[in-house]
Amino acid sequence: MGMIFRKIVSRWDELWEDSKKTCVWSFYNIKIKEARNGIMVSSFGVTSKGVETSLYTLKNQNGMVAAVSDFGATLVQIQVPDKDGKVQDVVLGYDDVKGYEAGTLYFGATVGRVANRIGKASFELNGKTYQLTQNDNQNSLHGGRDYYNYRMWETEEVDDNHVTFLLHSEDGDQGYPGNVDIRVTYTLTEENEVKIHYVAVPEEDTLLNLTNHSYFNLSGNGSGTVLDQEVMICADAYTRADAESIPTGEIVPVEGTPMDFRQMKPIGKEIEADYEALHLGGGYDHNWVLNGIGTRKVAAMHSEATGITMEVYTDLPGMQLYTGNFIVRETGKNGAIYEKRHAACFETQYFPDAVHKDHFQGPVVRAGETYDTTTTYKFFV
Ligand code: GLA
Repeated sequence: MGMIFRKIVSRWDELWEDSKKTCVWSFYNIKIKEARNGIMVSSFGVTSKGVETSLYTLKNQNGMVAAVSDFGATLVQIQVPDKDGKVQDVVLGYDDVKGYEAGTLYFGATVGRVANRIGKASFELNGKTYQLTQNDNQNSLHGGRDYYNYRMWETEEVDDNHVTFLLHSEDGDQGYPGNVDIRVTYTLTEENEVKIHYVAVPEEDTLLNLTNHSYFNLSGNGSGTVLDQEVMICADAYTRADAESIPTGEIVPVEGTPMDFRQMKPIGKEIEADYEALHLGGGYDHNWVLNGIGTRKVAAMHSEATGITMEVYTDLPGMQLYTGNFIVRETGKNGAIYEKRHAACFETQYFPDAVHKDHFQGPVVRAGETYDTTTTYKFFV
């Protein structure tokens, strides 16, 4: 099996080299349209509205691959060679755009304008009340409607290690005020980092809180539960939430609770503990108050089976660790079956419902101000 895999990989390398010189060829089911500035561009299928979508495959010298699509500015693959040299795709997802159009779990999604929840799906800004869509109990979740991850993004820039997608979000989009152009740049570095950089300058005061909703399984997508994989979160506290996952405003120390991830521990170690937050969230689905400010390491994950470790870096104050509690038998890449807790998400963010809590930072961005934030997932073996 290892041999065959290596053969496939070296064939891939040859085709990759060819693709830089030529134009159209196909490799198994992947139709390569072109190689632009060293990046492989392939068809990702046609949407139900007849729109052609593309997959951009970035590759580094260490055998890592990150593939992203203009459909939803979605992170589709992160391939990492494991301790035995076998390449593992460590994010859940689908084979083509049809899967992403039908999927409701936000696999690899770029989420906006405001990721996570806004209580009662409304907010006040400059004396005016804005009504959003109630798509999660009475609250708004991940934009509420017409989600960014179901839209076609313009491909603005393609270079040998990055792709920039652009979305024009208009005044009133999802109920939010102000036109805003949102740019998301995915970069794969030679340091084995997948960097996600968001930049937006709204024309009017508005709210912005973008995140990436990738589901990580460092033993490879489709390998089953992540409960035995270890996680660390550099946070002394988390935001307590009610039964609808809206923060109560309390900042609760993690010390002595199952929410304490300051030392690496298996995700499953205390997930079934008799603890209010875990009952209400059906497992981990909470915002941690990340220690420190500025760009810093905020979390890590490790699989003993593959030897793969991931570190998470961000400049944002919060992060949702979500343990895939709501996945119910989802068919993904190559027919893989994903079930409850087969992955974990590390959604960096302003705290949920921050617009209603004076002591939570963000997410108001004033007209002409630059919203600029970066989250990095870095891999080691
Ligand atoms: C976020 C939320 C979860 C859930 C997932 C998507 O992580 O916090 O409650 O909605 O998105 O299924």
